[in-house]
Amino acid sequence: MKPITDRPEAHLYVCTNERPEGKSCCKKVGGHEFFAKTKDKLIQEGIRSQFWITRTGCLGFCNDVGCVVALYRDGEAAPEIYSEVEADDFDKVWKSLTGQ
Ligand code: FES
Repeated sequence: MKPITDRPEAHLYVCTNERPEGKSCCKKVGGHEFFAKTKDKLIQEGIRSQFWITRTGCLGFCNDVGCVVALYRDGEAAPEIYSEVEADDFDKVWKSLTGQ
């Protein structure tokens, strides 16, 4: 086992999970699109190594409004978790992630 010492300032997990027909899930409410937009902007800004982003499975807050994201900051024990994240919330999540 090899420890990773090059840690990010923050790590955003975006739920893109799909659940069976008739059940709420982040895939149906823009999880993939939110993940892709955030990842693309991190690359464009050249800060992908400082701020990591990962697709994740169900975080347990499924809804019919928007995806669920969990933000882990280096040195903090518990994540910030946001549910019902819609496309219009991009700037707020971006600021929480990067401070910009
Ligand atoms: S499918 Fe995303 S929180 Fe459940």
